Amino acid sequence: MPSLRQLFLDHLGQTSLSPLLLEIDKAEGSFLYGRDGKDYIDLISGVSVSNTGHRHPEVMAAISEQAGRYLHLMVYGEVVQSPQVMYAARLASLLPPSLQSVFFVNSGSESIEGAIKLARRYTGRNEIIYFRNGYHGSTTGALSVQGSELYRNAFRPLMPSTTMVEFNSAEAAAMISNTTAAVLVEPVQAEAGVIQPAAGFLESLRTACDKHGALLVFDEVQTGFGRTGSLFSLYRYNVIPDILVLAKALGGGLPLGAFVSSSGIMAALSHDPSLGHITTFGGHPLCCAAGLASLEVIIREDLAAKAKEKERLFRDQMAHLPVREVRGEGLLLAVVPEDKKIISQIVLRAPDYGLMLDYFLFCDEAFRIAPPLTISPDEIALACNRLEKLMKALS
Ligand SMILES: Cc1ncc(COP(=O)(O)O)c(C=O)c1O
Repeated sequence: MPSLRQLFLDHLGQTSLSPLLLEIDKAEGSFLYGRDGKDYIDLISGVSVSNTGHRHPEVMAAISEQAGRYLHLMVYGEVVQSPQVMYAARLASLLPPSLQSVFFVNSGSESIEGAIKLARRYTGRNEIIYFRNGYHGSTTGALSVQGSELYRNAFRPLMPSTTMVEFNSAEAAAMISNTTAAVLVEPVQAEAGVIQPAAGFLESLRTACDKHGALLVFDEVQTGFGRTGSLFSLYRYNVIPDILVLAKALGGGLPLGAFVSSSGIMAALSHDPSLGHITTFGGHPLCCAAGLASLEVIIREDLAAKAKEKERLFRDQMAHLPVREVRGEGLLLAVVPEDKKIISQIVLRAPDYGLMLDYFLFCDEAFRIAPPLTISPDEIALACNRLEKLMKALS
């Protein structure tokens, strides 16, 4: 019998020629466990997904409870399913009054597709303005607004009427006009290597969108659910978008995406023609039940505020490492080593030192630290200790 690893290589479509190939048997809290029982501290959270850690007991209980009632019933939007309704209502209670209508889909990319379609349909315009080094997903529409040529050029022609501008530039707002349907922005650019907005930048986009009747779309797929120290970044920066895009931690470890807007804007997808966006599995009841349970843990345990305290622990305990800069806020951090040539070695050899680390898509000078928000101070100390050994071995 070939090994599991060999079967993986033989039978799964691959995303690169150098997959990590780690074999994980179990995951619990902040740890992944290999088949030999070796533990790895998860400093990535499956890329900002597992904000309440792996297999949180309340999430597991919600999944079991829902599995005992029903799984898929009908395509999204036809049948009143309590997990969807309860989750949408809870999100609405936490969001500004203009973000009250939640359209559930399956992933971040699909949420972006939905947001683009909604903005075009509502404004009757085409142009989407997006930002250099922004990442919004891998489907064709999302790829068309990816702020780097690297991964998209091979798939041209892409969606027309898109305009790339520089993040944090004064010119960005000046590019918004009365042909712009939407401005799509990550309030904190994640895959760019955690780039925060300059003072006044998001406000300038809001003002220009208001002036020209364009919609402002925030992609909070990575920054949402407490990761950067507030429940959503829109509260951190006090700018309210017309459409909010969510995914990743939204599902508490199960696949779920959503775009959220006002009822008035959202109505554009339901008539003339109807079925403006349809999805079989969007808002799957199991995913909504898991996501809602995870959100309640984030709120009750004030994990957003704790992310700021834990950021401080990481910064303090990495202070004596050969690190030039730590960018970011909360538990979305980009660590820039003094020698950027060791980045790939840091990520590839991290498992040998009991760590799970990762790169950024559009930043080759930093590696990522984005653990579950539930990581304990002792686990942070252990992670920093392992990181120190790893970096020493590479210096
Ligand atoms: C900011 C942002 N938006 C959208 C996406 C796409 O999400 P998904 O991979 O669920 O399609 C990602 C994925 O990494 C992301 O980081």
